[in-house]
Amino acid sequence: MLVNCCRMHLHRGGLVLLPGGSRSISTAFHFYQNKQLELYAAKDAQRLTLRQLVFFGRSMNEDRIIKSANYVRTELPVRIAHRLRDMQTLPYVVVNQESVSDVYEAYWSAFDRFRRYPPLTTLAENDEFCRFLRGLLDEHKSVIPNLSLGLSLSSPYLAPERLDSFMRRMLVSRISRRVLAEHHIALSRYLTAKRNGETVSDDRVGIIHLGLRVKESIEKCARFLRKRPYDADGDAIEGAAADAPWSDVVIDGHLDTKFSYIQAHLEYIVFELLKNSFRATRLRHPTFRQLPPIQITIVAGENDVALRISDQGGGLLTPEIRSPSDQFSFSHIRNPVRLDVSRLGALRRISSSGRGMTATVDEQVSSWQSKSDCEDPQQNAGVNPHPRIGIGLPMSNIFATYFGGSLELVSLDGYGTDVYLRLPKLGTNLEGIELW
Ligand code: COI
Repeated sequence: MLVNCCRMHLHRGGLVLLPGGSRSISTAFHFYQNKQLELYAAKDAQRLTLRQLVFFGRSMNEDRIIKSANYVRTELPVRIAHRLRDMQTLPYVVVNQESVSDVYEAYWSAFDRFRRYPPLTTLAENDEFCRFLRGLLDEHKSVIPNLSLGLSLSSPYLAPERLDSFMRRMLVSRISRRVLAEHHIALSRYLTAKRNGETVSDDRVGIIHLGLRVKESIEKCARFLRKRPYDADGDAIEGAAADAPWSDVVIDGHLDTKFSYIQAHLEYIVFELLKNSFRATRLRHPTFRQLPPIQITIVAGENDVALRISDQGGGLLTPEIRSPSDQFSFSHIRNPVRLDVSRLGALRRISSSGRGMTATVDEQVSSWQSKSDCEDPQQNAGVNPHPRIGIGLPMSNIFATYFGGSLELVSLDGYGTDVYLRLPKLGTNLEGIELW
């Protein structure tokens, strides 16, 4: 655990945790380490749009892939340094939570490894770099449950606004780093396949799907949920899973809608929203053999693609959780269900099972070159599959707003919930991360 193996000191009014330090490591070394962090943290993030990612990734060749690798190599440590600085300003009682200090330690180690990574000049070096990125992506899979657990437990010590704005910066930045890393790996995989004379499909550039069919993504998420009833039932309807009825998902509106987007992001959001709707509908009508349908309307607007998901699950019906900031909050002061014993227990199990789960080098070699998409929308979005731990809605909101979209819930109390998701379709919005 970090707090046992690191030295801590106060820095600019916040706590500095210096990982990897034993008692023999000198103060001068810590000073040097922190100076390195400051150098990177002082730089602004170079934010990108979806369109830039597509333009750059088109007509990939050796020269471009090396440029892309060096951009990722220099940009990721800047983005990580910003968040390390952010963590350093948290109160001691918060960073002292084991799950928070695990995240700090993982980020410090990643920062240090990026900072030392030499410039890339050849394709062979890029293969090695992709393997390095894949390893980090896998290593960081437990970051979300860890942060969520640590911050839920820290709710008494952080004002809800501060807690939520901190979580938002951490999670949006994480999404952005994973997008850059996954995009680079996907472009490298494409180039390797092309050079090997394999047939490559042109429906994607990197991780961006150029004609993502919204209706197909919805159907895929519904199919996947039916195969894994535990996701929809979770803790609340134990035993009902095997033969419980399912709502039909009825899709209408502009059924042919397609747009350029990151498939994993759209499907994570749809999966989480559908999961909530299936569950609420079942809970609301426990004796029905035929459940009311979930209605999804797709609208292709001039600038966005919009979805309305309407269920008859009774509405939100939680008097304490009313405003959007409460629904999307990670603080138990705003959102008391975060303190549910079952949720905290599940979070604890997931966060501790993530410890030490690093793929071996051999596994990483094969996995960066093989196609990384699987059926599971959570896994594809970089979130380890998990039971109900209360992060689906806040994470969906973060995915939706990352490129300037929005997510809104309207409760028709006693009847159902309407969710409005809007995603920009022109790809011209910059990533919604902080510059610092
Ligand atoms: C994360 O998943 O949190 C990352 O920062 C991944 C990145 C280092 C490749």
